[in-house]
Amino acid sequence: MRGFYSRKIHSLLGVIPLGGFFLEHMLTNFSAVEGGASGFTDSVLWLNSLPLVFFLELFGIWLPLLYHGVYGLYIAYQSKPNLNRFKLERNWRYTLQRVTGVITFIFIVWHVFETRFQVTLGNVKHEELGGLMHNIVTQPLLLTFYIIAIVAASFHFANGLWSFLISWGITVGPRSQRVSSVICLGLFVIVTVMFLVSLVTFRDSEFQTTATALQSLKTFI
Ligand code: HEM
Repeated sequence: MRGFYSRKIHSLLGVIPLGGFFLEHMLTNFSAVEGGASGFTDSVLWLNSLPLVFFLELFGIWLPLLYHGVYGLYIAYQSKPNLNRFKLERNWRYTLQRVTGVITFIFIVWHVFETRFQVTLGNVKHEELGGLMHNIVTQPLLLTFYIIAIVAASFHFANGLWSFLISWGITVGPRSQRVSSVICLGLFVIVTVMFLVSLVTFRDSEFQTTATALQSLKTFI
């Protein structure tokens, strides 16, 4: 029974708040496309000016991510894919949900370390994050890693939402599950494209920065 509740909490946290944060993050990044370097910096500064931002981040991102991520790795480790026996769509979804969860985990640890954690350490200012992203995505290997991670995380989110709607009894019959499958597929495409377009935009020279702190960071990003 305890396992039942911890699974339910894991499932809920994937959508609220993590799914919400994921979409918010997509929009913040997209402000780089709409408003260029200054538009992106404005969005970052606005987010960080929110009241109680420390607690918003703690309860809206860090703790849910820690629980969902670590428990998710445990679920993935325990799971038994049966692709060989039944080549059904649902088995593929099941396996891909776990594989993309592991990719997302590895990516988030790295991504948070090279961006948010550097702000915490005082190596980078909020205003320099656009420049930091520029330094990252102009390196082909890191750009490739980011592209793979974006596709994986977007699939994990959209397919997870589809599975969440079933496991919480919201889409019960086969017809509603087919309709939600099409909607979640559409969501996957939109989210992936918006993240990728923002990623490529960070390559623009207007994001380049001469800050010495960022130059020294180049040694490890
Ligand atoms: C940090 C690394 C992550 C790992 C290792 C991970 C792992 C997993 C696993 C194994 C499942 C399947 C659970 C099951 O079927 O019982 C899952 C479901 C899910 N995950 Fe994640 N996840 C991670 C990050 C995220 C993030 C950042 C989001 C939000 C964008 C997210 C959203 C979801 C959703 C919505 C579900 C579906 C819940 C359900 O089936 O009811 N996950 N995750």
